[in-house]
Amino acid sequence: MDTLVLERSGPLAGRVQVSGAKNAALPIMAACLLSEEESVIEGVPRVTDVSTMAEILRGLGATVAWQDGRVGIRPGHETGWTAPYELVSQMRASVCVLGPLLAKHGRARVSMPGGCIIGPRPIDLHLKGLQALGAVIAMDHGDIIAQAERLTGTTIHLAGAFGSSVLATGNVMMAATLADGTTVIEPAACEPEVADLADFLIAMGGRISGHGTPRITIEGVLRLHGARHRIIPDRIEAGTLMIAAAMLGGDVAIDGAAAEHLGAVIDTLTQAGAAVEALNGALRVRSDRNLKGVDITTLPFPGFPTDLQAQMTAMMTLSRGVSLVTEKIYPERFMHVPELRRMGASITREGPSAIVKGVEGLSGAPVKATDLRGSAALVLAGLAAENHTVLQGVEHLDRGYEHLEAKLAQMGAVIRRERTI
Ligand code: EPU
Repeated sequence: MDTLVLERSGPLAGRVQVSGAKNAALPIMAACLLSEEESVIEGVPRVTDVSTMAEILRGLGATVAWQDGRVGIRPGHETGWTAPYELVSQMRASVCVLGPLLAKHGRARVSMPGGCIIGPRPIDLHLKGLQALGAVIAMDHGDIIAQAERLTGTTIHLAGAFGSSVLATGNVMMAATLADGTTVIEPAACEPEVADLADFLIAMGGRISGHGTPRITIEGVLRLHGARHRIIPDRIEAGTLMIAAAMLGGDVAIDGAAAEHLGAVIDTLTQAGAAVEALNGALRVRSDRNLKGVDITTLPFPGFPTDLQAQMTAMMTLSRGVSLVTEKIYPERFMHVPELRRMGASITREGPSAIVKGVEGLSGAPVKATDLRGSAALVLAGLAAENHTVLQGVEHLDRGYEHLEAKLAQMGAVIRRERTI
């Protein structure tokens, strides 16, 4: 397994290009199953989760090919209908093939995703939405089996205890594109990745309105065709790089970062004392490293994203005063906290909250990542700490960040990957 060796770095300088959004690419790749024709997706990041989705689609009979930074996906004529445990257990987003398979082939068998390191991640809302469209759902040997002769549009209430669900909205929206009649999803997730999926479905011939708002309306059509689409920029990668610049100090430009997707992050960094400005399709972040504590509460978009909570917590460990972090999406998503404490951070857990008291400095240590965003937080902490830090568990980082260490190094961070053979 690879490790990352991190040395104290900063100030950062220069510019980097943000990649396409992993969380938009995954459901859009699954949506290609809704047509018989080839679709071409541009800006798909080369990350492990994307490779896992490509494996799932190949297992379902599709041809998936990278051509010059684009991914061409052509569903096979003899499309399979099973997404196996070996792949679903690697990545929960595999569940987004359920809606397309059901809508296109009238049946789907997808292994039930198990527990997850960031806490309970049920799929009841996915199943509730598909049942409302007329699917009959059964469980067999740990697999979900969904069947429907025809799906029929209806109004679906899709909120759970933690609000709307991103991938459940996507799954139901994909299934509804080929249903008879009109479907209304309310409250729908408003995340930019859901809106990007809707834009792709529209490019395929789907009739969708209201995406990006809590009420999405889908009028079913008889068939969808292949389409060409460019994935939106990854707001979580952009946010991670912005937090790096604020925490390590410097003056950097993040090309392609979309200010309209990052309002809560820009506001939080500004409150902490960094200067953020949007210019010429980039976000420029300047910081003298002298930051003050801020409070954040993770919420559905446009609130502060849970996928940047760990990275922001790392920044708070070195910010003056006390910061309060409250997780309203995944109340147990704090696996990075014990590792940050090993580096000298002062963090106290209180249920779904963490109280972070800024300290003078962190000290480098061997640390271990156990999840994707937590691993990014440990990279940032390692670059801010005295001495060197060795990060294990880099395979988690590789699930969702395309060349993160190269991008940080391009801005002057001292970071290197040690490959193990
Ligand atoms: N929930 C339910 N029932 C469901 C589905 C979700 O109760 O059927 C709950 C979840 O347990 C959670 C809340 O609803 O408390 C929101 O979860 P959501 O369904 O929105 O999460 P997701 O769609 O499974 C996507 C991202 C996650 C991101 C969340 C929240 C992808 C592939 N994944 O997951 O990304 O944290 O939305 O924004 O899009 C990551 O990239 O590191 C990551 C975990």
